[in-house]
Parts: sequence; structure tokens; C-alpha cells
Amino acid sequence: MAIRNVRKLGDETLETVCRPVKKMTDHLQELIDDMFDTMYDANGVGLAAPQVGVLRRIVVIDVTGEDPYVLINPEIIETEGEQQAYEGCLSVPGKVGIVTRPAYVKARALDRNMEEFILEGEELLARAICHELDHLDGIMYTTKVEGDLEDTSAPAADEEDEEE
Ligand code: NI
Repeated sequence: MAIRNVRKLGDETLETVCRPVKKMTDHLQELIDDMFDTMYDANGVGLAAPQVGVLRRIVVIDVTGEDPYVLINPEIIETEGEQQAYEGCLSVPGKVGIVTRPAYVKARALDRNMEEFILEGEELLARAICHELDHLDGIMYTTKVEGDLEDTSAPAADEEDEEE
């Protein structure tokens, strides 16, 4: 297990569509462990493989620090409602911006044993699922920000800020 270097905005890896995982390997298991280490080390709530330079459809999410999820080849299959809040990204350090996301998200994915499961989320979990899945399609949240990107030290930034 190790902490990997997180690619920053402007790195073309972050704007590339990732390939599905067809077969689990020891190499990918190690990648998943490293993604969790890297995410927790940076106090993030989600991380996508392209953020550590690997163009595969893998994300890790943990919005409470106690509910780790690995989503492989994830797809959003249902959404409901809308929520608007500040969002951040480990690839865009020190910045946040307002993004509208669904209030509820239902996703289908494979776990690290390549078994299918359903993950449903509201609030921050719904936001994290959308944000991380966007990474797999090379979409940065900065393209969806309403208004300006703000410094995390700005007065408008509140405790809801989470970096993904
Ligand atoms: Ni991100």
C-alpha cells in the first residue's frame, strides 16, 4: 500500500475517457488499496483511478470515513431531484465551486471481487458518485461550476466542502 501522486487540473489524463475493467488482477487490487490510502491521506471523500494516472473505470468513495466503497465499471441507473452545494476535487487543490447534482443517485457497479452491487446515495454520497463517475469520462467538476471557482479560504466556503 502506498500513497500515489494525484494528477492536477491541466494534466491530460484527467480529460481522457477510461477503459472498463474486464478482469481483476493483483495489480488492480494494489491500485485500489493505494487509491484508498491516497484518498484518506488527502482527507478526500472520493478518488478516481485517472487521478492517480490509471485510465481504468475504478473509483473509491468514503463520505463518512467508515463506509468505503469500490466501484468498478460503475453506471448511474437512476437519479432524482436536485441539490446545489460547494464541491471540490483533490486534483484542484484549494478551490471549490457550486455544482448542481441530483439529490438521489442509484448506481450499479462491480465490487473488488467483480460482483455486481447497487449503491444508492443522497446528499454528499450522491454528489460523490456523480463527481467520481464524471472523472471516468474525463469530465472535471470545474466545467460544471456555476459562477466562479473560489478559494477554500473564501468566506463563502463552509464546512460542507469536501474534496473528491
Ligand atoms: Ni475529483
